[in-house]
Amino acid sequence: MDNNWYKELVVYQIWCRSFKDGDGDGIGDLHGVLEKLDYIQSLGATAIWFSPIYPSPNADYGYDIADYKDINPEYGDLKLFRKILNEAHKRGMKVIMDLVVNHTSDEHQWFIEGKKSKDNPYHDYYFWRDGKGDNPPNNWLSTFEGGAWEYDENLDQYYLHVFSKKQPDLNMDNPKVREEVKDIMRFWLDMGVDGFREDVITFISKAEGLPNGFPLPIATGIEHYKKGPHVHEYLKEFRHDVIDKYDCFVVGESPMSNSQDCLEFTAGDDHELDMMIGFDHMEADCFMTDTIHMPFSLKKLKKAFTHWQDDLAGKAWNCLYIENHDHPRIVSRYGSEKYHDESAKMLATMCYMQSGTPFIYQGQEIGMTNITLDSIDQFKDVVTFNNERLFKKLGLSDQRYLKIANKTSRENARTPVQWDSSENAGFSTAEPWFNVNPNYTQINVASQEEDPNSVLNYYRKLIKFRQSHKVAIYGDYKEHLKNSSQLYVYERNLDGERLLVVSSFTDKSVKFTAPEGFDLSKGELVLTNYTISPTQGTSFVTRPYETRVYYFK
Ligand code: GLC
Repeated sequence: MDNNWYKELVVYQIWCRSFKDGDGDGIGDLHGVLEKLDYIQSLGATAIWFSPIYPSPNADYGYDIADYKDINPEYGDLKLFRKILNEAHKRGMKVIMDLVVNHTSDEHQWFIEGKKSKDNPYHDYYFWRDGKGDNPPNNWLSTFEGGAWEYDENLDQYYLHVFSKKQPDLNMDNPKVREEVKDIMRFWLDMGVDGFREDVITFISKAEGLPNGFPLPIATGIEHYKKGPHVHEYLKEFRHDVIDKYDCFVVGESPMSNSQDCLEFTAGDDHELDMMIGFDHMEADCFMTDTIHMPFSLKKLKKAFTHWQDDLAGKAWNCLYIENHDHPRIVSRYGSEKYHDESAKMLATMCYMQSGTPFIYQGQEIGMTNITLDSIDQFKDVVTFNNERLFKKLGLSDQRYLKIANKTSRENARTPVQWDSSENAGFSTAEPWFNVNPNYTQINVASQEEDPNSVLNYYRKLIKFRQSHKVAIYGDYKEHLKNSSQLYVYERNLDGERLLVVSSFTDKSVKFTAPEGFDLSKGELVLTNYTISPTQGTSFVTRPYETRVYYFK
């Protein structure tokens, strides 16, 4: 089955709780999604990825699933979901679901059953182990915070959770668990969904015997499951038994993987995943995780992108993203709130003119920014609270931690979408479940609809250009001026068509000279974030966060 169509998609990610409230309870829902399908289509998006919308106690806002075959009643029901699926398909948009099978919620029926006794058939769906004396079975720490084992008095055993203790890890070595996963996949594919975004999918196989890990302040033991011994085998099994039988695609999230790891999963005829969500390019202003903040380095960003572009070329396919529900807003990180529109447009161009499938996160298309909260109680995310304990142990004051949380927390991406300048940003008629960013009066969809030069309309133009020019989708990639710490320059080539993409990451003026072979006066300036008179010769001086795409034929 030739289902390479995923290469030409533009995916729009919905994190439902903050997207649009359609029933007036302050929580985003599927009624809101239905209302906004035309809007999503108007962007040029051809697919929607739903972050988890299943029943969940929301310990990790849906990434702790209590029932894989239903819809969270806060968001709607299966009937409404089917309607959305149908309406999306009518508009030529695919729909993919988030498949979270590294772990379930501790409120999932399998866990509730398995906890009843050691010989319950569901007991072996999870990693239950005896302690070592008074200690847990090994020294692993959760990737969120604290030990990775939770003690259960009734069973006098511990269960493994590499995320929060409300997210027990599934034992994928149990063939019954793998059958359950396939069953869940078939359930949604039979309904008509077009694929999955697979959550931390490369973590699903744990090393035999669960040996102690190298001691780290957080995530000790990760080397024993970050690419475990059976991960390829299990993913091949899912692919062979289910995915290959449907016209669908899968994109897997893989923290701590580099481009070479990615090839193991995505290259070759028998590839397990169609694309991988890597993290390298999301670490240009931090170390390993957003929480350990560092000054932004353009060189680091370019190196990360170029590694993935070069290494995957002709062998695998990139997933292009700069935002999702797990990272602070990109304008506030790699761009400039002062040069808001310019930098929002530049960042989109820099990313989505590369080779791969664009993924756009709700609100990104209007350049939503980070929020500043006044106290830690206003935050909502388990990770923020876990980090608070961690940083306090290291002696940090409340005020200093608040500063860190404001800069680095995932909540920055989870404020309600700013639809207009009315109360609650037009997100809801009731008080929203989480703070609206006070800048909604300046940054919102309605005002950007009106303005032909808005960030929103730029995204539309960019997507349209991409979708109508094969060179933007399939062209090869070559980076120039690698040593520049201010400009990111690359070209794309396909059958005599060429693109030259120049992006400035500074508010300073920088003299740019085109690489050999490019006469700018012969190129068509197809995208830019400034008004520019025709370019003469081979050089120009950039304005703050300027971006230009020249097209040559
Ligand atoms: C993924 C999700 C993130 C979640 C974690 C645990 O990284 O994107 O939101 O907290 O997995 O499921």
